[in-house]
Parts: sequence; C-alpha cells; structure tokens
Amino acid sequence: MTSGTLPQTIQLCPDGPSFSPLGIGTWAWGDSFFWSYGKDYDEDQLQAAFHAALDAGITFFDTAEIYGFGESERLLGRFLKQTGQPVAIATKYFPLPWRFTTDAVTETLKASLNRLQVDSVALYQVHWPFDWFMGQETLMNALADEVVQGRIQAVGVSNYSAEQMQQAHDLLHQRGIHLAVNQVKYSLLSRQMETNGVVKAAQDMGITLLAHSPLDQGLLTGKYSLESEAKPSGARQFSPKFSRSGLQKLAPVLDCLQAIARKHNRTPAQVSLNWLMNQGRVIPIPGAKNADQARQNAGALGWSLDEEDLQTLDTVTEPWKS
Ligand SMILES: NC(=O)c1ccc[n+]([C@@H]2O[C@H](COP(=O)([O-])OP(=O)(O)OC[C@H]3O[C@@H](n4cnc5c(N)ncnc54)[C@H](OP(=O)(O)O)[C@@H]3O)[C@@H](O)[C@H]2O)c1
Repeated sequence: MTSGTLPQTIQLCPDGPSFSPLGIGTWAWGDSFFWSYGKDYDEDQLQAAFHAALDAGITFFDTAEIYGFGESERLLGRFLKQTGQPVAIATKYFPLPWRFTTDAVTETLKASLNRLQVDSVALYQVHWPFDWFMGQETLMNALADEVVQGRIQAVGVSNYSAEQMQQAHDLLHQRGIHLAVNQVKYSLLSRQMETNGVVKAAQDMGITLLAHSPLDQGLLTGKYSLESEAKPSGARQFSPKFSRSGLQKLAPVLDCLQAIARKHNRTPAQVSLNWLMNQGRVIPIPGAKNADQARQNAGALGWSLDEEDLQTLDTVTEPWKS
C-alpha cells in the first residue's frame, strides 16, 4: 500500500492507452432489468452525469454490449456526439455459447462500435471467462486481429482468476500484445482479489485492475444504513447485503468511513474510491445515475488518504478479505 500523490493518468499497460485514474461505469444506463432505468432516472439525468463527469476530469467510461441490451452503448454514443473532448471508451464482448467462430468477435465488436457511433474503442474486454466452444486461444487471437485492424486499441478481460489472466496474457504475448486489464469486483467490501492471487499476478504482469462495483452497489456511500430510511431500488432490495443483518455487519465500516471522511472534508464514497486508487494500478469505475453522483465520485480525485487512514480501513475491512 502506498499513500501520497496519486497519478493523474494511468497507462493500462506498456504501449497501452492512458486513462483517467477514475472512470464511470454505465451498467445502470438503460438497464431496467437489474437497476430501475426509466422509473427512478432517465436519459436527461444520464446525459447530465456524462457531462458532469467530463467537467470534473473523468474521461473514461466503461460499458458492455449486454448493459440494457445495447442501450448503455447507444446512450453513450449519443452523448459522445455532444462533446469535442477526448473520451476513452471500454466495452465488453460476452462469450455466448453460440459464438464459436472468430467472425463472431468481429461482428459483435462492429455492432458495439455502431451503437457507440465510433470507429474504434480504447479497450475491448471479455466479460466473463466462459470457454464454451471457442477456446481462449481462438478468442485471444481474434482480439489480437482486431488490434491489428485498429478497431480496438487494447485488450482486456473481466472476472478472470489469476491463472486465467496468466493464460490470456501468455496467448496475447505470442502475438506481441500486452493484456491491458482485468476488470474484477474490488472494493472495501470485496477484498478477495487480495487473497486469491489476482492483485499479485496483475502487479507482476503489469496489468491494470479495473475495480467494478467499487461502492458495493451504493453501500459504501453510507446512504443505506440501520439509521437511514433510504431503500435501494431494483434487484438490490433482494440482496442480503442490504438486509438488516447485512447493514448490521456493515455498521463498523460505515462509522470508520464517516470518521475518515470528516477528517478530510470528503464523503464516505470519495474515501472508498480513494482507498482503491491507493492500491496501485487500480482504476475504480463507480456507477453514477445523475450529475450529483458523478461530481461527488469525481471528488475522489486530486487528494490522497494518508498511511494511518489506509491502515485503519485495512483493519476494519479485514473480514471482507475472505
Ligand atoms: N465486469 C463485470 O462483470 C461487472 C459487474 C458489475 C459492474 N461492472 C461495472 O462496474 C460499474 C459500477 O458497478 P455498479 O454499478 O455495480 O456499482 P457501484 O459503482 O458500486 O454502485 C453504483 C450505485 O451506487 C449509487 N451511487 C453511486 N455514486 C453515488 C454517490 N456519490 N452518492 C450516492 N449514491 C451513489 C447509485 O445507485 P443508487 O443511487 O440507486 O443507490 C449507483 O447506481 C458498472 O456500471 C459496470 O460498468 C462490471
């Protein structure tokens, strides 16, 4: 763990693109299946979130073909047309069982580019390490071909174990390409990556980790607690983490986050994101449904927790390592 000045940009891997050290995740953009798009928030609020993020220095957005069945990419495509600022887009390929030829990769990528209204993206990630009928070797070769074609700048994976990440890294290496990222669930309440070898392997291989669900779907903002009236929308209401016993377990972490937030004149969400940014080559991608959330999350940039804060957070979230 390090503290002090955090970098202003992060190069994903040698020869790879550089991203802002904090991104915005757009799973909730256009998704009414898990989240509650169209009911609790709409396109105007997402458009405001997009521009607020850019104004606050966040220039990297993460999406996927499956988010809102393409709607997340469509929304981003429309918003991208409204800015002249350079924006890095990362999207994802879902290895569905019937996608078993390399043509499927090209067709799927072209459909994403079409929805995003761009000719290329900075990063293309394999959403899950499913093998089905297209083995990793064929898949990584198809992605390497897309780098050569110029439709993607860098290749990433998501939810890969240390071993799977090593395999993808080695296969791409044979084509002279560096695996840029592994996007994994990582937050103060999801620290398994530190004990299952993923963090160590990524550091050894020079791979950046993109931390998904870095606020644990809103829990680390402190707005869902034993004392608060706030109830999560969408599918989260059925999650045990948001139940009374889940919130009881969370209480010491929220107390600690609030104390550290007060000390720095920040919010618990900003402290939680800054903790991740202090783990070295980790870029958190919090979701934001409106301009206020985007602005507040961007407040994790430009300062750093100190060594004592990092130690305190490490200790209070020890139970979340397993
Ligand atoms: N690769 C994968 O398999 C995978 C899986 C999951 C996520 N992801 C990526 O990671 C991104 C983020 O994950 P996530 O959306 O699951 O969870 P998250 O970032 O941990 O939480 C996002 C939610 O927290 C609340 N929130 C965010 N900022 C807030 C703020 N400043 N103040 C108060 N509330 C705030 C919002 O919901 P409410 O306002 O409704 O509480 C928001 O939708 C996704 O959008 C996606 O890009 C990837």
